[in-house]
Amino acid sequence: MKFFIDTANLDQIKEAQDLGVLDGVTTNPSLMAKEGITGKENIINHYKKICEIVTGDVSAEVISTDFEGIIKEGEELAKLHDQIIVKVPMIKDGVKAIKYFSDNGIKTNCTLVFSPGQALLAAKAGATYVSPFIGRLDDISTDGLNLIAEIRMIYDNYGFNTQILAASVRHTMHVIDCAKIGADVMTGPLSSIEGLLKHPLTDIGLAKFLADYQKGN
Ligand code: G3P
Repeated sequence: MKFFIDTANLDQIKEAQDLGVLDGVTTNPSLMAKEGITGKENIINHYKKICEIVTGDVSAEVISTDFEGIIKEGEELAKLHDQIIVKVPMIKDGVKAIKYFSDNGIKTNCTLVFSPGQALLAAKAGATYVSPFIGRLDDISTDGLNLIAEIRMIYDNYGFNTQILAASVRHTMHVIDCAKIGADVMTGPLSSIEGLLKHPLTDIGLAKFLADYQKGN
């Protein structure tokens, strides 16, 4: 299972990278805006900075919603760095663009996916990753994890290579549940990764080991 961090915050990206378990980064315009990164040039520079920090895939989202615009923007983004994955929304022209990118060797992440049918279309178009947003489904009383399970079944039925990138992961239990279901990737905040570390018995056990060691010194 790959771990991506879902942020544009460079300090948090560095911290996750330093932990040694980071496989990539996902961003979106809202995450960029949260860090005060606005305007095309600043956003492009920020993607370059992220690619310098991590060794894995970095999703960079297009803003265009028409086929020609998505292609132009996506080709520009892909040229920035070989780690860039062009993030394309699940809309009609987005599906066409994913097919075009797939035919032309550009990797894609199909974003804003909320149904198994959308995920099937993304895979048919040749998306490298599909991003079902589980937290946002949970927010509206719909089981986000069930969507991951449905997509897993569909992709396994037909041997699609598209990787299921569980997105809108909000906490550590989402990570564990996605791992049980078989999501290929999860992207979440640093806290969702660091939460995996925690167990009170680990802390209690370590404190005792250290205290016992001191007795002999
Ligand atoms: O990866 C998608 C993600 O950024 C959305 O997360 O928490 O805004 O639903 P959230």
